Amino acid sequence: MTGRTDGRERPRRVEPPASFVETANVTSEVREAFEREGHEAWRRAADLLEWSSPHETVLDREAESLTWFAGGQLNAAYNCVDRHLAERKNSVAIRWEGADGETRVYTYLDLYNEVNAAAAALRGLGVGEDDVVTLFMPGIPELPITMLACARLGALHNVVFAGYSADELRARLERTGSGYLVTCDGYYRRGSAVNQKNKADNARTSVEHPVETVVVPRLDDPYLSEGQHDYEDLVDAHAGDRVDPVERAAEDPLFVTYTSGTTGEPDRVTHTTGGYLSHVAWTSHAVLDIEPRDTYWCAADVAWITGHSYIVYGPLALGATTMLYEGAPDDPERDRVWELVDRNRVDVFYTASTAVRSFMKHGAEHPSAHDLSSLRLLGSVGEPMDARAWEWYYESVGGEECAVVDTWWQTETGGILVSTLPGVDRAKPGSAGPAIPGVEVDVVDAGGESVARGEPGHLAVTAPWPGMHRGLTEAAAAEGEDWAYVTSDRAILDHEGYVTFLGREDDTVTVGDTDYGPATIERVVLEVEGVAEAAVVESHQEGGRAVVYVCTERGVEGDAALTERIDHHVAERLGEDTQFARIVVAPDLPKTHSGKIMRRLLSAVADGESYGDTSALRNPEAVGELETVSGDGD
Ligand code: WT7
Repeated sequence: MTGRTDGRERPRRVEPPASFVETANVTSEVREAFEREGHEAWRRAADLLEWSSPHETVLDREAESLTWFAGGQLNAAYNCVDRHLAERKNSVAIRWEGADGETRVYTYLDLYNEVNAAAAALRGLGVGEDDVVTLFMPGIPELPITMLACARLGALHNVVFAGYSADELRARLERTGSGYLVTCDGYYRRGSAVNQKNKADNARTSVEHPVETVVVPRLDDPYLSEGQHDYEDLVDAHAGDRVDPVERAAEDPLFVTYTSGTTGEPDRVTHTTGGYLSHVAWTSHAVLDIEPRDTYWCAADVAWITGHSYIVYGPLALGATTMLYEGAPDDPERDRVWELVDRNRVDVFYTASTAVRSFMKHGAEHPSAHDLSSLRLLGSVGEPMDARAWEWYYESVGGEECAVVDTWWQTETGGILVSTLPGVDRAKPGSAGPAIPGVEVDVVDAGGESVARGEPGHLAVTAPWPGMHRGLTEAAAAEGEDWAYVTSDRAILDHEGYVTFLGREDDTVTVGDTDYGPATIERVVLEVEGVAEAAVVESHQEGGRAVVYVCTERGVEGDAALTERIDHHVAERLGEDTQFARIVVAPDLPKTHSGKIMRRLLSAVADGESYGDTSALRNPEAVGELETVSGDGD
């Protein structure tokens, strides 16, 4: 399997565009500095922030729990808002596009006023340092505002995805012991108003402890249950109030969140104030290349870590304009996302690789109908990006003049760990890139031993990084230099240190005698002209053989000729024993709210098993469509 897994015999290498290199935030000097200085070099990340007390050590491994920037004190809201007032109080901090076409613009001064009033209001309700405040809202400005208000008070926010059920909200309120909830009456989704407050009320009343509740009137539906507060009334009452930012130690928690739970039970993750904020500011600067004058758009939901790190904390720490979009990327029209980039003159755009493949499926005529010349950098995250999606993004969206970065990280890592440095490293389409400076990775076998370069194994991060979540810091301190964080991501490390991701261990597919990461096979299927999306799963019914689901590009027939082309190409690339039990052509693949393909569900469909609740899906209708196609195809 070696050598062929990353899609091409000899991967194409793409130099960073010359125009990009000229203005890039970091140069090769940065990598050299990290090589020279070791973990001390991470002070560059801390130096992007303003600290009320400077750190004494960059990394303290001696204590019981490993600490980044020990001795340092800071406030995250101060760093994301107050300190920009001197230079850019009239620059736009948040540019919001509602799903209903409403838009709002907050300058840094506006944001300062809003965050202070919200913090004063929350304090008035009793919120204090280290309390957990649960936020249950879609991408409306009140969400980042209340996140920052919590940070200002030294309280921890726990943002719960707005599409979650009352039961998931209840579980999180209970598990965090949270006595405060900020929610909304409802919101707009694909043209209709969705009620949110009923879910919030159901959750709140089934929790044992009292939950002080504030309701944002997004739909102007003033209905409040007894004892609940209207957000606007509260902040109006506190308009003009000032709340001193509460000083937090670097290792004090900033927020809690839960892993997305694509493959199992969601785990609670707590991120620190100093290490996390330094890490996301640094990677926003070094990898996403964000500058204060940029309009930057990360098309994720604020509720996921991607939104926390790269819609809210990273770009605001740098003083940039961050765009916040409430709606769906293809609603009301397929070109909605490009229309937004065009109209807002977006400089840097960051989205899920599965979204890139959906855009590709919808066709290049949508991006080409708009002026996308403002774009400088395109980023991808969430699942492996195959070479063809990379090329499509680079050409059809970037006009071959943008840097493209495929960034790997996780809820647990806080921020980006693997990516090319856009102004320095050559990209190899299909491979995410090397570990960023200061991050060390290896690929190991089940026993934790390094495998040979070019061989598949688990990605392990072998040195601490500032954004590591608190659950990792104790183990890292106890195990000392030998400590490694072994992920369940399968990957290959090439001789230049570039990482190619093969998918998650839980999704392994056996074909012939070989265990593959799903991405290994999917990459090859995606090389077939006309295939826009692909997912490979194992079918028990078919004796463990693999079933592949594909979506075609617009205008391409999903006929026998296509499935023959796929079979032929896969046999040629992976060997004659790589045969699928079935190839199913579907209009869409089921994806989680955070944009990951739900392979577990696809294998249930392949086996004709019940797949239960589909509320964790962004596009539940895709499942019904699949069943029809699967049935027809047999
Ligand atoms: C998992 C983490 C990353 C923040 C948002 C999701 C997969 C993420 C890539 C990439 C291949 C990727 C991994 C990882 N993943 N980025 N560029 N290439 N796989 O955070 O929900 O915690 O998911 O997403 O499997 O473990 P998350």
